[in-house]
Amino acid sequence: MQQVDILIIGSGIAGLTYALKTANHFPDKSIVICTKADEIESNTKYAQGGIATVMNFEKDSFEKHIVDTLIAGDGHCDPEVVSLVVKEAPERISELIAWGTRFDKNTQGEYDYGLEGGHSHERILHYKDFTGLEIEQKLLKQIHNKQNIQLFTKHFALDLITTPVTKKCKGAYVLDVEKNAIIAFNAKVVMLASGGSGQAYLYTTNPAIATGDGIAMAHRAKANIKDMQFVQFHPTALYYDGFNPAFLISEAVRGFGAILRNKFGVAFMHKYDTRKELAPRDIVTRAIHEEMQETKSECVYLDATHLDAYEFRKHFPVITDTLESIGIDPQIDFIPVIPAAHYLCGGIAVNQHSETSISYLLACGECSCTGLHGANRLASNSLLEALVFAHRGYLKTVELLNNSISDPINYTYTRNKTVKNITTELEVVKKEIQEIMSKKVSIIRSNESLEKAESRLLYLQRVVDLFDKSYQTTPKLNEIRNLLTVALLITQQSIKQNENKGAYYNISLC
Ligand code: FAD
Ligand code: SIN
Repeated sequence: MQQVDILIIGSGIAGLTYALKTANHFPDKSIVICTKADEIESNTKYAQGGIATVMNFEKDSFEKHIVDTLIAGDGHCDPEVVSLVVKEAPERISELIAWGTRFDKNTQGEYDYGLEGGHSHERILHYKDFTGLEIEQKLLKQIHNKQNIQLFTKHFALDLITTPVTKKCKGAYVLDVEKNAIIAFNAKVVMLASGGSGQAYLYTTNPAIATGDGIAMAHRAKANIKDMQFVQFHPTALYYDGFNPAFLISEAVRGFGAILRNKFGVAFMHKYDTRKELAPRDIVTRAIHEEMQETKSECVYLDATHLDAYEFRKHFPVITDTLESIGIDPQIDFIPVIPAAHYLCGGIAVNQHSETSISYLLACGECSCTGLHGANRLASNSLLEALVFAHRGYLKTVELLNNSISDPINYTYTRNKTVKNITTELEVVKKEIQEIMSKKVSIIRSNESLEKAESRLLYLQRVVDLFDKSYQTTPKLNEIRNLLTVALLITQQSIKQNENKGAYYNISLC
């Protein structure tokens, strides 16, 4: 048993921001971050386009950002949350800048705001096309300088510790992967910042860590989980099977003027929406899906050949280099793209203070569901949401820690002793989950496909439960168990959704 004041699960933008803020406020409290891979591995690291914010009040306004978010969310956002996130954005972003994060500026020394789908104005702060890496590196640098933060890599959170009757969170069981030992962390406050679950799908922009662990853990602890049916598919992942995860061609490339064309070279977005390439993501994704079906093709194309070569490379160096590495010259060739699972709009339900339905358990970032995104997230609102709710969670923590009494626990984790290497079996199960979700619970669903998916996933759950009862816990076994839980939540909450909205589209409801 290890006593700490604050336990944070995850080292992406959400977990690191919350850690820094609490560490600054409480220099004498012990703060532990557990992260299951290397410290930098996260969805955050891969973010390209940037962070949406209104800081140029001459041309833009909070009101416009609010309206754009509400329109993209298709009537399912919490308007109060939208308003508070948009209005708190400049202050949160200025903190990121104070911690060393760079954002591109133009020749006049002003921020070079980018444009993305669903935004009525240029308002995306970015650092070339690797904004997430820039943020992650600068946050980690700050974290390394804090004496009261311990960051444990290769520490895999297995389950939350909660009191049976009062439903208070008291900590978490964490597997130290290298020592193969389980640590019971007893914490006064636990923050889940464990990210998304794109790995539930075959084709995803999310790295291998995105297996929905935090959501599954919270679900096992009986926290409220909501809006899981709203899985966002990014319209333009590179169609190329040599990269895992799928390589993203940022929406900012369309914001920069690239055009979508079908396999005959014909532009098609005007047929689907007056905003064409810059319609919200759900609309562009369905349009691409339909166009691929109509033209019987495996992908569509992004045409950037008419764009200024120097400026394109300057804005998108990683995209340009990656394309060139596989023989695609964006000045000459069309870029093959298809939609890929990208972002989970739903997650652990939290209030405006990042509190879950379990006391002393907070959540922020992609694993949480705040009400900001509704049925379809507006581009570049995710990094922003993580910053705002990490801050709000920190304020709540100050209150919780000031009122908390030391109440140590003494739980032990009963661990099965039978060690068996079932990696191959687990890979087979993972592939099947991904195939089910990609075929039956994807961009276009039907009542029949959802029911078939549920029944097969329930069967797989029995298989994995049996593995779990029979053999010693490993990170892989846990990830597959969590992925199954999340896949089932997405499927079952889809079955309950009786209206097509945002990213959710069921042909049986048409
Ligand atoms: P993450 O950054 O995913 O961090 C989760 C952390 O939890 C990781 O450190 C992980 O290892 C850890 N973890 C998970 N499970 C466990 C466990 N069991 N035990 C211990 N640790 C665990 N959004 C934007 O707003 N703008 C963009 O431009 C943008 N571009 C994107 C591009 C790509 C390719 C992708 C994939 C996403 C993009 N997004 C973008 C979305 C955005 O990056 C994510 O939603 C956001 O970074 C999530 O941050 P997070 O801190 O919540 O989670
Ligand atoms: C992108 O760069 O297209 C991703 C932006 C986002 O997911 O918000």
